[in-house]
Amino acid sequence: MPVANTYRLLILPGDGIGPEVMGEVRKVAEWFRDKRRAPIEIRERPFGMASWERYASLMPDETWAEITAADAVLFGAVGSLDQQAKISAADRKKGSLLTMRKALDVFANVRPIKANAALLPASSLKPEVVDGVDLVFVRELTAGVYFGEPRGVEKLADGGERGVNTHVYTSAEVERVARFAFELARQRKAEGKPGHVHSVDKANVMEAGAMWRRVVQRVHDAEFPDVALHHMLADNCAMQLIRWPRQFDVIVTDNLFGDLLSDCGAMITGSLGMLPSASLSAKDAHGRRRALYEPIHGSAPDIAGKSLANPLAAILSFAMCLRETLGQADDAATLERAVDKVLASGARTADLATKGAPTLSTTGMGDAVVTALASV
Ligand code: IPM
Ligand code: MG
Repeated sequence: MPVANTYRLLILPGDGIGPEVMGEVRKVAEWFRDKRRAPIEIRERPFGMASWERYASLMPDETWAEITAADAVLFGAVGSLDQQAKISAADRKKGSLLTMRKALDVFANVRPIKANAALLPASSLKPEVVDGVDLVFVRELTAGVYFGEPRGVEKLADGGERGVNTHVYTSAEVERVARFAFELARQRKAEGKPGHVHSVDKANVMEAGAMWRRVVQRVHDAEFPDVALHHMLADNCAMQLIRWPRQFDVIVTDNLFGDLLSDCGAMITGSLGMLPSASLSAKDAHGRRRALYEPIHGSAPDIAGKSLANPLAAILSFAMCLRETLGQADDAATLERAVDKVLASGARTADLATKGAPTLSTTGMGDAVVTALASV
């Protein structure tokens, strides 16, 4: 029986490399539970095609009940659309990652990008460009073109087709994500980081982008005059991220730009296999946020089942869970130090290794982190 102040964590391994990397997260989580008395109860449900094969549903009621009862969801990866081609559009939508994000209202997707000194050679950018980068994306996750209506593809009388997606934001949706970003910048400033915000839009082309800019400025002026705010166009931001990434601290942007720019930022760390994320809702009456933690890499079907995947993005997502959901900043820092120690020792999964160098398997990397935990 879980005691009252136990946090319930739900692992959804999903498809592709999801089960492999989440197996390593489970090892790490169990270490904190058993050795550090972290008050957690770990549960698991199949998700994605694994769920379809078992229950003929991508989101059986029991899975949804587990998701809503959990204090945090630890998510692996979900398969591609063509794997799900045999499933009807309605069934696909019911069990999609996007539906889950929307239903949980986890509007603030936090994606930290931190250069690791040991991994400088793994980046495609020059070491002097990458060294010392420590920035964080706050990507709006539950609105914008991902969810806007109308959407779809219609046949035209001339035999052609017309495809439509709609970028739409209300001022309330912009306000809450802007507020989240300003609060984060304030917190970072208190930790000795620069603590300023770049808000990224296409105000020069999109009316909704001009509104985004106005609303962010208004929230800033009314509530956060102490936090420096810069506005930047999305195309320029893409360029600046690879030109001079150290200029950024907190970047707040919409759902689609955040998707694109965070992948771009990923190459600063050398691999998509290194990037964790947390998706958070507004605080409830008890000050708690619903939370979904996921590595930002996808299901990588080409390497699935071969123990080649890098589990560090998923493991670092668990560190975010320790910090955000459990409020255990010390444990989170311990885990991050353990990952640093493993990387400093030269251990690499294939995605990070220089050509011809020896590599660790997925489980080998997870084991190395658990071993390092005992000594950091
Ligand atoms: C991400 C991913 C997802 C997204 C996909 C898998 C739907 O690319 O989390 O960045 O586009 O949001
Ligand atoms: Mg993406």
